[in-house]
Amino acid sequence: MNSRNLPLFEQFSRKKLFDSPTPIQRLDRLERELETKVRIYVKRDDLMGLGGGGNKLRKLEFLLGDAISQGADTFITIGGLQSNHARLSAAAAAHTGMSCELVLTQVVPRDDEAYRRNGNVLLDEILGAKIHLLAGTENALDFAADRAKVLKREGRRSYLVGSGGSSPAGCLGYANCAVEILEQQREIEGGFTQIIAPNGSSGTHAGLAAGFASVGINPEKISSYAVLNPGKETQFSTHELAKATLALLAPTKSIDLDAIRVSDDQLGDGYGIPTSAMLEAVRTMARTQGLLLDPVYTGKAFAGVLAAVRSGAYKPGEAILFLMTGGLPGLFAYQPAFEEAS
Ligand SMILES: Cc1ncc(COP(=O)(O)O)c(C=O)c1O
Repeated sequence: MNSRNLPLFEQFSRKKLFDSPTPIQRLDRLERELETKVRIYVKRDDLMGLGGGGNKLRKLEFLLGDAISQGADTFITIGGLQSNHARLSAAAAAHTGMSCELVLTQVVPRDDEAYRRNGNVLLDEILGAKIHLLAGTENALDFAADRAKVLKREGRRSYLVGSGGSSPAGCLGYANCAVEILEQQREIEGGFTQIIAPNGSSGTHAGLAAGFASVGINPEKISSYAVLNPGKETQFSTHELAKATLALLAPTKSIDLDAIRVSDDQLGDGYGIPTSAMLEAVRTMARTQGLLLDPVYTGKAFAGVLAAVRSGAYKPGEAILFLMTGGLPGLFAYQPAFEEAS
C-alpha cells in the first residue's frame, strides 16, 4: 500500500489480526505439470498466524475494530456447521479478550462423524466459543438477535455479525487487500491479467472490486467462482455489496454490474457438496506444490482455474493470480469424501 492510499483505510476502526502483506508465490511445478505457458500465482491469504488463518481475518480486522470502538464484550456470529468464518471469529475474539457465541446451522447434507465433530467444529470448541446448534430450517440471524437481547438483560454488550462477515465494514478488509495486490504486482512482469477468488457470501469479491474502483481501476479483471448460490444471484449480491463498500471509501465513484464477473461452473449440486473436479484440484495442488486447498471454497474455485488453463482460456505469457483464502480445517471434516474418491 502506498502512502497516498493510507488515509482511505485509516478512517475506520481496525484491530490488527495478521501480518501483511501476505505473500504471492508462483506455482512453477504445477505450470510444468499442466504444460502451460500461463504464469500461475497464488496469494497466500491462508498464511495468517491466528486461528489457522484465512480470508475472514481480513474482514474481522474491521469488524472487531468496530466492535471494540462500540464497547462490545461479546462477538456473536452465524454460519454453517463447518464455517471458517465462525472459527476465525472465535479465534479473533479470544485474541481480543471478547467472548464469542456462534449460531451454527446444519445446511449441508452431511451427517457423518467427521462433519459433525471434526474440522472447524472441533476448533470452535477449543477456541472457547459458545456454540448454539440449529436445524437447517431455523433462522440463525433471528436466534442470534434474541441471544443478544438475553445478554443485554445480563448487562453484556453484544456485537452481531451476519453470514461470512460480509457487511460493507467487513468488505473493507478485501478492499484493502486489492490495494495490497496492486502494490505487489509491480514485481510481476505485465501485471496480473486475472485475479480469481471463491465466492460464498460475496464479501471477498465485493471488497476486491470496491478496492479497485476506489483507486479508479475497473474491477473487471477480478472474477469469482460461486460455491453457495447460482451465478446470476451471486453476481447481483456481489454488486450490491461492492457498491455499499465503495460508498464508504469513495462515494463519488461507481461500479458497473458487467464488471462483476461470476461463474457457477464449479458449484455442482450445491454448497458444501463435493464434486469430482474439486477432489482432483485439491489432490493436484497438494501433489505438485505441497499446498493445501479446502473442499468447500478454494478446491472448487481452483478446479475452475485448472479447467480454464487446460482449455486454453488464458493466453501464453499471461500472469493470473488465485486467492488462496484458507479453509484447511475443512479437509478433516470431509475425510470420508476423500476416502471414497481415492
Ligand atoms: C476458506 C474460504 N474461502 C472463501 C470464502 C468465500 O468468501 P466470501 O464469503 O467472502 O465470498 C470463505 C467464506 O466462508 C471461506 O471460508
